[in-house]
This record gives sequence, structure tokens and C-alpha cells, in this order.
Amino acid sequence: MKERLAKLLDQGRLEIDTASDPERVEALRVKYLGKKGELSQVLGGMGKLPPEERRALGEVANAAKAELEALLVKAVQRAEDARMEQALRGPRLDVTLPGRGLGPGRRHPVSRTMDDVIRTFARLGFEVRTGPEIELDYYNFEALNFPHDHPARDMQDTFFVSAKWVSGPEVDHPGNPVVLRTHTSPVQIRTMLEEKPPVRVIVPGRVYRRDSDMTHTPMFHQVEGLMVDRGVTMGELKGTLDAFAKAMFGAQVKTRFRPSFFPFTEPSAEVDISCVRCKGKGCRVCKQTGWLEVLGCGMVHPNLYRNVGYDPEQVQGFAFGMGVDRITMLRYEIDDLRMMFENDIRFLGQF
Ligand code: DAH
Repeated sequence: MKERLAKLLDQGRLEIDTASDPERVEALRVKYLGKKGELSQVLGGMGKLPPEERRALGEVANAAKAELEALLVKAVQRAEDARMEQALRGPRLDVTLPGRGLGPGRRHPVSRTMDDVIRTFARLGFEVRTGPEIELDYYNFEALNFPHDHPARDMQDTFFVSAKWVSGPEVDHPGNPVVLRTHTSPVQIRTMLEEKPPVRVIVPGRVYRRDSDMTHTPMFHQVEGLMVDRGVTMGELKGTLDAFAKAMFGAQVKTRFRPSFFPFTEPSAEVDISCVRCKGKGCRVCKQTGWLEVLGCGMVHPNLYRNVGYDPEQVQGFAFGMGVDRITMLRYEIDDLRMMFENDIRFLGQF
């Protein structure tokens, strides 16, 4: 039995020393020291031995077991070190490869259209003015000749806010409701209150309405225009807007003025341009009409002059307002307006 033990120990030393991975080491632990392992098997017959021999053999067996255990511990360490070594060595990381890069940024399509509109009117002598997006009902409706219960207000349903939050020069209008402005037209009033004619201004900005579908978002962008001087006629209005359309969409573009209604202009018109896609032949974009509606305009209503202290007998003028988002959609053939405000780089990167 001693011999069998010695042989087992020799064999174990050899096998354990050459084991190179943790799984193999574990398998050897089971093979030698497990419940049904080699050591247990050799010692299985020990019960039949006389007591002295049994004790002597027990010592040898314990020593063998201790040695095998120590060898296994070392083997596990060795195998783990080897595995770590290999993990550290490969796969190779090439630190000289170029990074992924962010690419150049670019302006949002709406900002580009806005800048183009502003630049076009700047060449015609218009200056930029801006006003607050949180506006008094008075400037947004009342001073623009929308009477309190006028149905024209229904077309511009908006967000009303408690007037208690307003401070500043607006104290002239205590108790007046506050709205998120539904158009940039209130800046016409604010400008005329502060400046004397001649006035020639362009007003870019964000506006808000209770609207949401493929072609409407609750927030959108407008550019307003106002020109007031002595002897300004509808001919100048038409000439200015025709020049704008040609500068913006190309020299071949035609304009068409259709009678319309706005409380703050009289007469009022809606302006169409010949379809930029089919050149007026009729297509999906212009719904087969050959025309695209791009803005509203008209001659400033005398009541506005009265509201700002101008003399309607002395001055005349025209105003216009356009949706910048809509023009952007036409220019870039975008079907769904909402995509413009989702900030998805894959969409915005195309323009
Ligand atoms: N404010 C109008 C709107 O949002 C657009 C508009 C029409 C502005 C005619 C004007 C104008 O200045 O003269 O629907």
C-alpha cells in the first residue's frame, strides 16, 4: 500500500506540474483528492490493517495529501498568471489608428433659412428688431386690431399665462393677459412705439400656437417685415416681396398675390410663388396647383397707427409675415416638420 501511495504521489507531481490551465488543474484536484479520487481509493483498504501499520500509513498518506494540495494551489496560481499574461499580450491595440472624430458641425436648416431671409431684406435696407416671446395680449392681439371677441383670434389659439408674472414697462396695461406670442407681428407695435417713421424693419423669432401635426409644431419660426414712410404704396409691397422671392428661390420664380384678410392690414393678401419643384407644372409638393403659399401681407391698417401715435393721414406702409419652417421644408423638400425639432444628427446632417 505504501508503494501504491508513492507511485500515486510521483504521478501526481508530474501531472500537476505540467498542467497549464485552471480547468485542467481542477480536474486533477478531483482526480487525486476528490471523494472518489485516487487517494481515497488507496486508503479504502486501510481499515483492514493492524493498528501500527495503519498509523504509519496514515502519516505517509497525510504527507502525500498535503504535498498534492500545495502543488495544486501553486498550479492554480501558475495557470491563472499564464492566462492573464496572454490576455494582456493580445489582441494587439494599435494606438496609432486615427480616432473616430466628430466631423464639422453645421447650422440647423431653419437657422440657415432665417439667415438667408434676413440677409435678403438687409440688402433692401431693412434692419433687424426683436421682441419678447412671452407677450402681452395687448401687443399680440389688441393693438394689432384684433377686437376682444374677434373670430380671427381663433386661428391663433395659444398658451395663456397669468398676468401677475409680468413686470417692466408693461405696467401700462395692468391685468392684461399674458400669452406666448402667436406671431411676430406684436413687434410691429413695439417698434412703432419706440421709433418714428421712416421704419423699415425685419423681425425674426420663435412663435407658439396650439397646433401639432405633420406640418405644424407648437413652436415655430416667423419673420415679420414692416415698412412705414410717407407715400408707401401697394406697388412697393409687391415689388419688395417679388424681389425677395427671386433672391430666395431663384430668378425664374413668379409671385402671385391673392386677396385675404388680416385684422392688422387693409387690404390684405396672401402671396404664392410658382412651385420650386415642378416650376409651376403641378406636382405632389404643390398639390398639383403649380403654386406654393409662402407669406401673408398687406397695407398697415390705420388703427395701428392710431394705437402707436402715428398720424394715419401722414404715413402709409406695408407689412408681411412668413413661416420660416415652411420655407425651409420647401427648400429642402422635407415632408414632416416635426423632424426638424427632434435633433437627430442623422437627419440634420443631410443639410
Ligand atoms: N401674423 C400673420 C400670421 O401669423 C402673418 C402676417 C400676415 C403678418 C400679414 C403680417 C401681415 O405682417 O401683414 O398668420
